[in-house]
Amino acid sequence: MATVGILGAGNVGLALGARAAAANCAVRFGVRDVAAVRAELPATLAAAFVGAPADAVRDADIVLLAVPAAAALAVLGAAGDLTGKTVVDATNPLRWEAGPVWNPPHEGSMAAAIAAAFPGVTVVKGFNHFGAEIQADPGMAHGAAEALFAGDDADAKARAITLAQAMGFAARDAGPLRNAAALEQLAVLWIHLATVGGAGRQIAFRIEGRAS
Ligand SMILES: NC(=O)c1ccc[n+]([C@@H]2O[C@H](COP(=O)([O-])OP(=O)(O)OC[C@H]3O[C@@H](n4cnc5c(N)ncnc54)[C@H](OP(=O)(O)O)[C@@H]3O)[C@@H](O)[C@H]2O)c1
Repeated sequence: MATVGILGAGNVGLALGARAAAANCAVRFGVRDVAAVRAELPATLAAAFVGAPADAVRDADIVLLAVPAAAALAVLGAAGDLTGKTVVDATNPLRWEAGPVWNPPHEGSMAAAIAAAFPGVTVVKGFNHFGAEIQADPGMAHGAAEALFAGDDADAKARAITLAQAMGFAARDAGPLRNAAALEQLAVLWIHLATVGGAGRQIAFRIEGRAS
């Protein structure tokens, strides 16, 4: 299976990393405090590499970005030459005003800002529109949680979808990178429903067809 570089080892990085490891991917975390992350790694990630961002992503087939949106550009900038890499952006640029509020950069979405800052990188938006609990376990009452991916490069998007499926998600092409804005807003809706809306965090959106 693929070699998956993951920038960030918090809620999202660890959850997606564990799914990728369970799918027999080689998982490589890029973090700023290597010793601290290594000391706290769960047993499911015992075989994962933990090191500097550039070492984590150099040989990765796909890179998952799992840091705060405010740190995204700096973290990618410190990850060495990313030319030709597929970066799946799971960040959500938000602020809180009695609930989540989308707070995108002027490019229109965090994913668009990354694409503008790193023209050699192929950006796919995804894994951002449900919580880390769902990332850790996509099994829902009526089947696997649906992971939506937006991007302009068909091959990169296919790579993200294939990885998501191997990780146990139902994955779907959500259109061009301009739809990253919609996925970031979908995250706002998920967070609202899960928190102030009272639905709790064990929820995910499902696209459903009619019974034939
Ligand atoms: N939590 C969720 O349910 C969820 C779901 C979907 C999407 N997201 C999005 O995913 C991203 C990560 O969320 P999270 O919950 O995983 O956050 P988190 O638990 O706070 O983890 C953030 C990770 O980013 C690293 N980091 C933070 N600031 C950094 C900086 N300036 N430079 C380098 N590394 C830095 C942290 O390293 P240190 O430990 O060294 O600080 C940590 O490894 C966010 O953009 C969030 O909006 C979150």
